[in-house]
Amino acid sequence: MAQGVLHLVRSNGSLMTSRTGVELVVQRIASRSAKPGVDLLGAVFSTNVHDLVADPEVDVILELIGGEGLAKDLIESALAAGKPVVTANKAVIAAHGNQLLAGGNVPLRFEAAVAGAIPIIQSLRQGLAANRIDAIYGIINGTCNYMLTVMEEEGLAFEEVLAQAQALGYAEADPAFDIQGTDAAHKLTILAALGFGTSYDFSALYVEGITQIAAEDIQYAKELGFKIKHLGIAVHSDAGLETRVHPALVPESALLASVNGVMNAVQVVSDGAGETLFSGPGAGGAATASAVLADVLSLGSAIAGQSGAAAQRQNQNQDKPKAGPAPAISRVAMDDIASACYLRIPTVDRPGVFAQVASALSAHSISIEAVIQKEQPASDASVSIVIMTNRVVESVVNAALKELSALDTVVGEITRIRVAPTH
Ligand SMILES: NC(=O)c1ccc[n+]([C@@H]2O[C@H](COP(=O)([O-])OP(=O)(O)OC[C@H]3O[C@@H](n4cnc5c(N)ncnc54)[C@H](OP(=O)(O)O)[C@@H]3O)[C@@H](O)[C@H]2O)c1
Repeated sequence: MAQGVLHLVRSNGSLMTSRTGVELVVQRIASRSAKPGVDLLGAVFSTNVHDLVADPEVDVILELIGGEGLAKDLIESALAAGKPVVTANKAVIAAHGNQLLAGGNVPLRFEAAVAGAIPIIQSLRQGLAANRIDAIYGIINGTCNYMLTVMEEEGLAFEEVLAQAQALGYAEADPAFDIQGTDAAHKLTILAALGFGTSYDFSALYVEGITQIAAEDIQYAKELGFKIKHLGIAVHSDAGLETRVHPALVPESALLASVNGVMNAVQVVSDGAGETLFSGPGAGGAATASAVLADVLSLGSAIAGQSGAAAQRQNQNQDKPKAGPAPAISRVAMDDIASACYLRIPTVDRPGVFAQVASALSAHSISIEAVIQKEQPASDASVSIVIMTNRVVESVVNAALKELSALDTVVGEITRIRVAPTH
């Protein structure tokens, strides 16, 4: 991605200067190994990232390494040396944002850390600053969205689509971070902190990936009028703030249902602006470089006008929770969250099984809103009973699923997919 930044500076540097008055000079570049084939735009090359901090000619440091080790060290030492930092690193902000932003006098910006090219951080900080935010829903992992889209369009199995995504470069060789939901959870941690003024608390999120989604779930969901999307959800209500990442059924008519492939989208619901949808490429060198350079240019403008006190004030960290009365937002425990659910229950193909399942659900006061029951072409003679439930509290569904799983007529793992909340 660093090469995307160099490319954009090379191709659009003068446009950036004429638009913002900021002239970008790439003074130093560090990476593990030299890149003889890459045009470094005249920068001094080094293999030690701390050389960037030591160079008095360097005004702003771009941390594009990733991870939480060296990246965190570099950010800390740059901020300690009074040098503003731009990072694309959601992991380091989600895990250490409170600490890194605590000083507040030297800017740390991270527009590229969430949803790639989409200027969602700036929108939450400034564009929507006049609003009370009620909810944020995000398709914020391109790998998951790509895989779910291809599973839907081509009816392929999860593993087949994963191999395809890896071949195309849309999934890492080790895809765990994406498909288990961690990457989306890092991003939602940041969105929740900015939208609701909470701390950067990755551990407060409920996180589920897409590994349990089968092609048949996508087909059944379609029959029921839904698409399956992997969502980051942060919803504020009288009960508190829900922060969760999991696959969700989204009505086909919903704005987010039409966001396909590697595209990302973030929907923000607020009291004044209503429903706003931001969409665009969530990854890729040029797309992410666009967000990185937006931060650099904004810092450059502030540095250029720093002689004025107003610019100095604007240059303070805008990302840390503001001083003044702390927002009294408590988190809602996952057990207390209510959702309508899709349940796919693999059972033996025998009369009376559906009645047994219905009775187990009814014992937990769960009602059945819709049912699909088809014979499977599978050789094991099992059938899938697909049920849409009413809106039920998570702890109650969990208890019912435990009981259902224990039935000797239930012959495999039950798939539960929550319906996304609506506003
Ligand atoms: N790629 C995207 O589309 C995208 C989108 C949004 C956010 N991000 C974020 O951007 C960051 C970078 O991602 P990436 O995909 O660009 O990763 P990458 O391709 O692996 O690049 C990492 C860079 O860091 C350098 N590096 C690693 N360890 C180093 C060390 N010990 N000393 C000096 N340099 C070191 C590498 O140098 P060598 O090349 O010499 O190994 C390489 O230039 C991550 O935080 C990621 O989450 C990426």
